[in-house]
Amino acid sequence: MIKVQDIIYVAHRVPDLDRMEAFLTDFGMVKAERRGERLFMRGAGPRPFIHMTEKGEPGFVACGFAASSMADLEKIAGKNGASGIEDIDGPGGGKRVRLEGPDGFRVDVCYGMGTVPELPLREPLRLNYARTKNRQGDLQRPAKEPARINKIGHCVWKVSDADKAIAWFRENLGMLVSDRLYLPDNEKQTLGTFLRLDRGAAWADHHTILCLHSPDEIKVHHCSFEVQDYDAVHIGGQWMQEKGWNREWGIGRHLLGSQVFDYWRDPWGHMFEHYADGDLLTASSKPGNYPALPENLAQWGPPVTPTFFS
Ligand SMILES: [Fe+2]
Repeated sequence: MIKVQDIIYVAHRVPDLDRMEAFLTDFGMVKAERRGERLFMRGAGPRPFIHMTEKGEPGFVACGFAASSMADLEKIAGKNGASGIEDIDGPGGGKRVRLEGPDGFRVDVCYGMGTVPELPLREPLRLNYARTKNRQGDLQRPAKEPARINKIGHCVWKVSDADKAIAWFRENLGMLVSDRLYLPDNEKQTLGTFLRLDRGAAWADHHTILCLHSPDEIKVHHCSFEVQDYDAVHIGGQWMQEKGWNREWGIGRHLLGSQVFDYWRDPWGHMFEHYADGDLLTASSKPGNYPALPENLAQWGPPVTPTFFS
């Protein structure tokens, strides 16, 4: 079994690359490159791209992860149904293996992609608290701007069988369970499981993948991107609103993972999340088990919208 070390990109297909570029730019990404009928967008972090759009009928294309060595890539290329080792035709180059993930979703495992110099990110705000004053004399004036995405954080999948999908990610990518949600009147029935990267003693985001049990509708639910802080979520959200994009749900703070969140729809209905201030765990953190109740969705924020789970 290999242990992937990071999530590095997600890819969608849409019919209008110009419109997607406008959406993702207001969302806070920066164009890396247009290559033929594909659009590559980056964040402020060192990955050459974190989102790729192909031209075509709207839909999900793939989710990409970083392997920790070429030996791991070779190992996974030997799996049933895996592609051979291919060149990545995108900024940063590198090699990849395509896997058929749960319900046929494409999962790419990559190695050797280059890095690019980081882009500036607004400094974290110095905050004054009731009994701790971190800012004396200076005024608080964060710029009005898009949220400036740092990196891709996670991807959420609605799958036909959550337990089977979770087993797939554990067995193929070496991921670990952070928290499990179950049907409130039947603890045996998994409704969702949050999985994180196994980085040993190093810190990893609370979740990189969430699989939701959804036999009636199989799709990618949303992908999520990290921004600097709480104010960036709000200012970025206001920017999106003023540009006329559609908010799905936000702003609130999740319970599992603790992120401050704000969900947006692209023009074709794909959901993109801004998040800040998520929890970090190591490989030795113990998994949690919770009933899937509304109070376990968010600690605060507006009520979840009727269309959020569709
Ligand atoms: Fe999320």
